[in-house]
Amino acid sequence: MTDDAKKRAAEAALEEVRDGMTLGLGTGSTAVHFVRLVGERGFDVRGVPSSDDTAALAQEVGIELAVPDETTRIDLAVDGADEVDPDGHLIKGGGGALLREKIVAQAAERFVIIADASKRVTQLGAFPLPVEIERFGWGLTVRALREALAAAGQEGAELTLRPAKGGSGFALTDGGNYIVDARLGRIHDPAALDAALTMVPGVVTTGLFIGLADRIIYGTETGTENQDVR
Ligand code: 5RP
Repeated sequence: MTDDAKKRAAEAALEEVRDGMTLGLGTGSTAVHFVRLVGERGFDVRGVPSSDDTAALAQEVGIELAVPDETTRIDLAVDGADEVDPDGHLIKGGGGALLREKIVAQAAERFVIIADASKRVTQLGAFPLPVEIERFGWGLTVRALREALAAAGQEGAELTLRPAKGGSGFALTDGGNYIVDARLGRIHDPAALDAALTMVPGVVTTGLFIGLADRIIYGTETGTENQDVR
């Protein structure tokens, strides 16, 4: 059922797609539906993928890829999310693509989130917050993260270096970094926490996407619901 809901949200997002657009392509199971649908419907678009997996899928379904430079205008980016709060702030990065996703979202003229309705929360934080960190000195960065969390009033967080899928060692992002998953329970002030964690040397970015989403399309059991942020 959840997968049907994800597909409904992805389908609804197609209404925002026009021929000639450069599209930011997200990562994750909901974004997979969107990328496949864009390919199947034969839109004349170029894609800026937010991960190697998405790049491979886009090519498979016939979407031309763009290598962005300073002049690239991304008309619309569409991506999934792990949690969305009433202000449209997000936790992303469950799939490990947070950095590229944030670069693409930040650059896009319009950023639309597609998600099943279970991602809608009253307060962020039940989903562990992914924080992408540089591998060098990772233990020192984890210690500094603990201190920054405590200073931000988020004491007692359980921090885990994300393990590699089905193997030994730790997961690596497409950019070759580690991810720390921070179990916070509740995030009291997402914007302040994002700013505080981003200040820690060794932190590349956090999975907090603050003020980036323009619209969230939730897939439900029967249809879709929109949350317009601005
Ligand atoms: C990947 C992400 C995904 O968008 C997020 O994890 C949601 O994934 P899914 O659509 O599979 O529920 O941020 O880094």
